[in-house]
Amino acid sequence: MINGIAVIDLGGQYAHLIAVRLRDLGCYAEIFDADDIEQISRYKGVIVSGSPNLSAHDEDGGVLTEILELPQPVLGFCFGHQEIAKFYGGKVIRGKPEFGPATLEIIKETDIFPGIPKQSTVFMSHGDTVETLPPGFEEIGISSNQKGNIHHNAAIGCSSLKRYGFQFHPEVDDSEYGDLMLKNFAVDICKVDPRWQSKIFAQTLIEKIQDQVGDKDVFLLASGGVDSTVLGELLKQALSSEKVHLLHVDTGFMRKNESREVASFFKDVDFKLVDASQRFFEALANVYEPEAKRKIIGELFVDILTEEFAKLNLEDGLMAQGTIYPDRIESGGSNKARVIKTHHNQVEIMAEMVRQGKVIEPLGDLYKKEVRQLGLELGVPSRLVNRHPFPGPGLAVRLLANNGKYPPQYTNEVVVDNSRLPDGFSGMVLPIASVGVKADMRSYELPLLIQGGEDFHPDNQCKLLAAVPGLINQMSDINRVVWSPGFKVESFAPACKVMSPKRVELLREVDYLVNKYLVELDLYDHVWQFPVVMLPAVVNGKVSEVVILRPVKTSRGMTVTVPVLPLEFYSGVLQELQQLSQIQLVAIDLTTKPPGTIEWE
Ligand code: XMP
Repeated sequence: MINGIAVIDLGGQYAHLIAVRLRDLGCYAEIFDADDIEQISRYKGVIVSGSPNLSAHDEDGGVLTEILELPQPVLGFCFGHQEIAKFYGGKVIRGKPEFGPATLEIIKETDIFPGIPKQSTVFMSHGDTVETLPPGFEEIGISSNQKGNIHHNAAIGCSSLKRYGFQFHPEVDDSEYGDLMLKNFAVDICKVDPRWQSKIFAQTLIEKIQDQVGDKDVFLLASGGVDSTVLGELLKQALSSEKVHLLHVDTGFMRKNESREVASFFKDVDFKLVDASQRFFEALANVYEPEAKRKIIGELFVDILTEEFAKLNLEDGLMAQGTIYPDRIESGGSNKARVIKTHHNQVEIMAEMVRQGKVIEPLGDLYKKEVRQLGLELGVPSRLVNRHPFPGPGLAVRLLANNGKYPPQYTNEVVVDNSRLPDGFSGMVLPIASVGVKADMRSYELPLLIQGGEDFHPDNQCKLLAAVPGLINQMSDINRVVWSPGFKVESFAPACKVMSPKRVELLREVDYLVNKYLVELDLYDHVWQFPVVMLPAVVNGKVSEVVILRPVKTSRGMTVTVPVLPLEFYSGVLQELQQLSQIQLVAIDLTTKPPGTIEWE
């Protein structure tokens, strides 16, 4: 018997995270598809992930039959939990959705909850719910949201069968005692001996690269971000310097001074800077839909790369990519996960190169935190290693364009019920959609703008942050909540604006300014990432730009919370932005992920 846990990936966004968490706890874990029963049966216990499928509609029904016939203990999360209930005779229905934090109340002491307080915060992302318990099972936990609505069967179990189900996700950071719950299951119930060492050895990766590459030339797209910088350093240390060729494509959507800084860091290896900004602007003229934008950017990247390959006569070379695990899973990289956003380096042409064995992705199983750890181990300066992550398509996914219309699904006006907002605040919807993720599926919906409150005082931030999960659960047409005190918006209408160089220039300056304030006020390391988004809207009858500030806190980028920042920071930024006549409105994004994503597109 293998001293570890088999994690079954049914396509939920966090399947890989379950394995990473277990390994962090010292318990070995491997990911399998549900039908790999021969392998699964060799492990001491099984954990089943969530899924984008609907258990109430019997999608992927019976997927766990063989697993549940095994003698080993089984624990299921979300869809996994619902399927366990169904298998033993319970009933699952389409229920009231719950997204974000909720309070779990343990109502029965069992072998899976030792050490967990009676009440704790857990993380929810689901629409279906277990309505009727199977015979022999007990309800061991209930959950309640901000409004005090109770959800039954949030945790269920049958200790004699060693079957357990949680509606919530203990594997994400936001579940306060998630680690202890996983440990209780793996160590106490499955009897896994926690002696696994999870350190990522740079040396192991170096040897693997040497093995994969042999004496070929390797090309790396060095974007300047953490991942490609760490990978560049890894390649430098693994291969002889004349075999490593770094290519930096300036798409026109980089941060201020970025291309210059990348060039100076890699000055001791073959480094080529290609200015392709004109081509990117031309290709994106009149493109509005985020997935269309991402595909165009991805494909143009590959075209440019192919041309560069041809010029250097290196068709026999390999390409290295700094893809990390969340990039893969959010592009539908696991067998079953739904596409939330197509990442620039995961387009079809690139997939073909992967199939031909021409791409190496040495960081493909790591999360950002682990890449940083690796970078430090390799001696990359912490200033670069701790730089905020920046998406491949860069400012292009932070600069929203619009054709002057609402998205087609909004045939009726979305009416906001102000009685649902805290006293003194009112709401209206912004006239442009953004991408989000709800119950493991992509959403493309309008943001709710809250107005009110004198300024960005932390007390106001806290009050609204507490109200956001309830608002999103109650309003089915929105996937984000942003807040703007001080400005008075009477009316919004969609504006028609394209991705022009002038707009990017403005966004670049605003982004630079926000980052400057973060550094000056010693806040840079307190936030994980701080996208600045700019979108067009007709505000109070005037065609304008709306700036959205999106501070996020997370450890792996899969789920995020919004940090409260000092008034001094927001007032300083606001004062500077008010000097810019094109900008009519500045708001903070208060949305957790899910249901928002970090980037708006
Ligand atoms: P989302 O917006 O999906 O972002 O919550 C999660 C993390 O991924 C980054 N991101 C990207 N990184 N290529 C990348 O290399 C991309 O196309 C891309 N899109 C999003 C995002 O900035 C965040 O850190």
